Amino acid sequence: MSSHITKAVIPAAGLGTRFLPATKAMPKEMLPVVDKPAIQYVVEEAVRNGLTDVLMITGRNKNALENHFDNAPELESALRQKGDSSRLASVEQSTDLADMHYVRQGEPRGLGHAVLRSKMHVGNESFAVLLGDDLIDERDNILGPMIAAHDAHHASVVALMEVPRDMTDHYGIATIDDIGEGDVVRIVDLVEKPDPKDAPSNLAVIGRYVLRPEIYGILENTEPGKGNEIQLTDALRHMATNNIAGGVLGIVFRGRRYDTGDKLDYIKAIVRLALQRPDLGPALENWLDDEAHRRP
Ligand code: UTP
Repeated sequence: MSSHITKAVIPAAGLGTRFLPATKAMPKEMLPVVDKPAIQYVVEEAVRNGLTDVLMITGRNKNALENHFDNAPELESALRQKGDSSRLASVEQSTDLADMHYVRQGEPRGLGHAVLRSKMHVGNESFAVLLGDDLIDERDNILGPMIAAHDAHHASVVALMEVPRDMTDHYGIATIDDIGEGDVVRIVDLVEKPDPKDAPSNLAVIGRYVLRPEIYGILENTEPGKGNEIQLTDALRHMATNNIAGGVLGIVFRGRRYDTGDKLDYIKAIVRLALQRPDLGPALENWLDDEAHRRP
């Protein structure tokens, strides 16, 4: 049975300070991964999972994001005149992907605040949140199983991933209960970016969420937390510990994921995705082999 969830919210209003100076005048979500901006992979993932209504939360450099998903008449007519149909198709692809909507966050006051900006558009429905700088490899679907778990349990669902202990201060970290459903677990507690010595586990919340609309009321009453930002993790913790609207479930993801807001992960994403491309993979693989042998 197909889910009634059709709306995806993509926050892309962060300052991207880890990637300065590249992100001085351009959102980090527009950084190219091979030949597409990171954000296009995220929108494609939403659409593959039936979420064709996409609301992007944008910030100060929003023009590049909006332009990428809009028509580019001059470019298109130049390519048409040249008879370059394959490049024309690649330009038109992002325009026709989804029903795109935009809202500005105003000040970047945290992920929770960005999500709250979607309330008017989403209304009283469950919806998905996909972080615009978090790439899930197309071969390893996580959003589909999350939507299925939401539909089966009528609860909000987050994606979890095991991270090295010394990385817990980069993520929201979960305490879980086994509910006898394999990788689907119940979240009993959450803490934002704990010091490794205080972390209750190494299960990190990554950038995919399926949320019930009750999250909005909770976010409205969530005070700024870590970093003086309104944290989605804090609102989810309230939902989980008070078992509001079915509480919060987690699904442990064991596939390939890249945080393109992090320099090393960004480079890994480009290499991995280029290696699997027939037009680039073989030549890149040879070059990587040569480089590995050249190193002292
Ligand atoms: P990050 O914490 O990775 O974003 O937020 P950041 O603040 O841009 O990054 P650094 O640490 O300064 O480099 C995760 C996601 O939430 C969005 C970001 O755009 C990113 O997709 N976000 C974050 C917002 O939309 N608004 C915010 O106020 C904060």
